[in-house]
Amino acid sequence: MHPIQELVPWQSTENLLAYPVLTGAEARLAWRDLVRPFARVALVADEHVWALHGASMPGLEELPRHLVPAGEKAKTWAQLGSLLDFLAHAQASRDSLLLTLGGGSVSDLGGLAASLFKRGMAVAHIPTTLLGQVDAAIGGKTAVNLDAGKNLVGTFHAPRFVLADPAFLRTLSHEEWRSGLGEVVKSALLAKAPVWQTLDQHAQALRTPAGLGDEALSRLVAGCVVTKAQWIQPDPTENHARKALNLGHTFGHAIEHAAGYGRVPHGVAVALGLRLAVEASARSGRLADPQLPGRVETLLQRLALPLCWADCEAGASEPLTLDALRTGMHHDKKGAAGAARFVLPIDIGRVLWDVPLPADEVDALWRDVLLA
Ligand code: GLY
Repeated sequence: MHPIQELVPWQSTENLLAYPVLTGAEARLAWRDLVRPFARVALVADEHVWALHGASMPGLEELPRHLVPAGEKAKTWAQLGSLLDFLAHAQASRDSLLLTLGGGSVSDLGGLAASLFKRGMAVAHIPTTLLGQVDAAIGGKTAVNLDAGKNLVGTFHAPRFVLADPAFLRTLSHEEWRSGLGEVVKSALLAKAPVWQTLDQHAQALRTPAGLGDEALSRLVAGCVVTKAQWIQPDPTENHARKALNLGHTFGHAIEHAAGYGRVPHGVAVALGLRLAVEASARSGRLADPQLPGRVETLLQRLALPLCWADCEAGASEPLTLDALRTGMHHDKKGAAGAARFVLPIDIGRVLWDVPLPADEVDALWRDVLLA
């Protein structure tokens, strides 16, 4: 175990978010107290997570339960319909709570179902992946995918609480862990410089969940939650500042779409997107710190995250075409009237958002950075 105590500066989210986010080992048991105000509680869980952890969550097995497939397969129209039918059969009402147990796909799906059922019931999340704990479960974004693009149908529906227990992270696959690390690097790019330095310093230990003790894991998650909350607090529905949290995502979503959903983990696509975004800043002369592209590249390498498509597991067997990437980009939901807008990092903790880039510059980035 790595002896990090101060992986990130501790700060409470109390003044930033309207709901509690518990990030320590006590989170596992806290749900019983937190659900007390609700007349009924139902559970939607990733079937794989349920098989692994259901029995270790005292009392959870007594709740009416709906299981969904792991990963992006949960984020479909059909799965949304089944979950809404389940809520109806479970006699959920507007004073009920839907508890989600699983990764970002389950909190996205469950949040959307809860926001729609009877025009809105409460939701709360127990995220079990690093990506879910540092990003997806925080901030109230909900979504399912369409063939035309990722997260094209969604709402904002803030959870009542989020319980991020580090014990769940111990059983993550290498791929799931790496996926979360992509969002951790994004978070560090949006935080104050010392967070980046600490991450850089401890990158070796962060390569696997086993490299950190529970306290360091909790601090890592808490630090990312605080950073995220700082960007959400002034702009919960993403009209300005919250757009910063889409750093790496316009490129990343296009990669996920081009590869086929589920072929490349979301956070790994985001990691690739971060490199593309910082290169776009450099090429367009926007960097405040000229060293930033090198710093991002070095940290991604230290964390064993890919720098280009050929470094990805899927990259070995499945070539990506420029056409598929262009189509994926075209469908990204953050495009305005079909023109993609980008979040560009210019220094640690400083980003520009809503930056349009000419199509030929984006093509050149795909070719020179991702497909090189
Ligand atoms: N994942 C980006 C956001 O929640 O705004």
